Amino acid sequence: CGIVGYVGNNDSINVLLSGLGRLEYRGYDSAGVAVIDETGAIRTRKRAGKLAVLAGDVKASAMETSHTGIGHTRWATHGAPTDQNAHPHLGDDGKLALIHNGIIENFAPLKKELVADGYTFISETDSEVAAVLLGREYRKTKNLREAFQHVVAQLEGAFTLLAVHEEEPGLVVGARRNSPLVIGLGDGENFLASDVAAFVEYTQSALAIGQDQIVSITPDAVSVTDFFGEAVEVEPFEIQWDASAAEKGGWSSFMAKEIDEEPDAVANTLRGRIDEEGRVVIPELNGLDELFADINRIVVIACGTAAYAGQVGKYALEKWAGIPVDVELSHEFRYREPVITPQTLVVSISQSGETMDTLMAVKYASEAGARTLSICNTQGATIPRESDAVVYTHAGPEVAVASTKAFVAQITALYLFALHLARVRGSQSSEMLAEQSAELLAIPEKIRTILGEQDVVVQLARWMSDSRAVLFLGRHVGFPIALEGALKLKELAYIHAEGFAAGELKHGPIALIEPGQPVFVVVPSPRASATIHSKVVSNIQEIRARGAKVIAIAEEGDASVLPFTDVVLRIPLAGPLFEPLLAVIPLQIFAMELASAKGLDVDQPRNLAKSVTVE
Ligand code: G6P
Repeated sequence: CGIVGYVGNNDSINVLLSGLGRLEYRGYDSAGVAVIDETGAIRTRKRAGKLAVLAGDVKASAMETSHTGIGHTRWATHGAPTDQNAHPHLGDDGKLALIHNGIIENFAPLKKELVADGYTFISETDSEVAAVLLGREYRKTKNLREAFQHVVAQLEGAFTLLAVHEEEPGLVVGARRNSPLVIGLGDGENFLASDVAAFVEYTQSALAIGQDQIVSITPDAVSVTDFFGEAVEVEPFEIQWDASAAEKGGWSSFMAKEIDEEPDAVANTLRGRIDEEGRVVIPELNGLDELFADINRIVVIACGTAAYAGQVGKYALEKWAGIPVDVELSHEFRYREPVITPQTLVVSISQSGETMDTLMAVKYASEAGARTLSICNTQGATIPRESDAVVYTHAGPEVAVASTKAFVAQITALYLFALHLARVRGSQSSEMLAEQSAELLAIPEKIRTILGEQDVVVQLARWMSDSRAVLFLGRHVGFPIALEGALKLKELAYIHAEGFAAGELKHGPIALIEPGQPVFVVVPSPRASATIHSKVVSNIQEIRARGAKVIAIAEEGDASVLPFTDVVLRIPLAGPLFEPLLAVIPLQIFAMELASAKGLDVDQPRNLAKSVTVE
């Protein structure tokens, strides 16, 4: 969910709606706002559906000017996305409004107790329980901050809560446990939000706050304490991009814009990290050589697209740094008692830095004694704050729910890290390392070339818009790309798609091949390995013989695939491990174009949210 709070001179409704517009990618089942208007009364509006429905309602109802308010855009967990279940929720006396992101795990016993006490509930949400509790505590304390302290002490689970109370206009109070919240510092106005995108239009100064903290903002002051009311340190930071970076501009979708930004995402992630001799030196890791000196195993954890970036990274980490690497989904790693020793390095990958499954896995790994490194695209996010070290990707804000530019930036960062480790540990010659960094530096231009030649992919997507199932095959570093190609098609076009390791074909998946079945094949470079290449070409022949329609993604000049394929999508030549950074681009464009051809919303696919901040 996306949440935003505001106090200041502007009309809070406008600030809240524009902030929610920038947070809509975090959830778009329903949305709502609550403000304290000039008459001193709480006014709420909330509606099921996308933010535009709420905005229309607000406009039609001509609300009074207000200077204090909270807003929410929801990704439903407890209770269907209806008007009633939308946030904000009111306390039982209607004097306070509260919004919530996360899951309150003990809401059932709390609700039972409140019902026994005579309280009634309007919605099915766990969040309303927090609102009613807060109302009860407020009547005892007459102080919103203190009431918060009493409430958070009773809650289990993960949450960010924001609330306003009629008796304290000009104040928004928030609390967080394992769920995102940042502060925006304005001039005579202050902001609270799930991420900086909500307020970057008004200010680029922000404060990151830690876990289990309570924050209150007034137009001129910000105060942060722990759950017991003790003041705590906060970490100021400047947001490194401006509002225009998160605007669609003239693009048909954020996704189209973000794919076009992929050369920059890679170039910016490389910037300042490769010196003139081609050595990779990551400034953020200066002084941390010891952290990596004696590690004997790396576990990469992530979810979704980030996990596929991790799978690509494994090949480079093992080859260059010579350390065994396991790649695991965060939620599987977290709950299976994995073997962790002090020599284990856990590398988490997350665009948002807030994915709850990954955050919990990182905390678990730390507590079990592992060292932790975060690869993250979002400054001030929770996962890097909970990690021993961080290597930021500099892809810029990614708004479309399906990840594209962050993916190539994540692979780039992993490759940089692998080269950094190889240098620190002395596992490769300096010539070899310089060769690899030169390959990395050449990637942005090669992606640009691919982006300039997309007519065939666009055509293909239109022809294939009524496909019911699409398969993707890849081998070696092409395997995770096949998985990512399939994921993109599922997410965006709602088509059943599966990725397979090409070598596994004969062990099962080939049974799926029937005449006309479309299969994308990521063909490895024959220059990298003639053996692997010829094995994949044999796979193509096998499926072709059974009637498959084959779409190959192959490097320029590779004529071997021509006799057996229906369409060939060409990518420029690159070094052995670098193909994934190129081969994924046509697959992303294919999924986007096919979804557009079906008339679907590519930026906000159904049922998904970009930052999943619940486990
Ligand atoms: C969600 C998104 C995916 C994303 C995954 C991990 O499921 O829909 O696109 O890959 O989360 O997100 P993260 O922010 O941790 O990279």
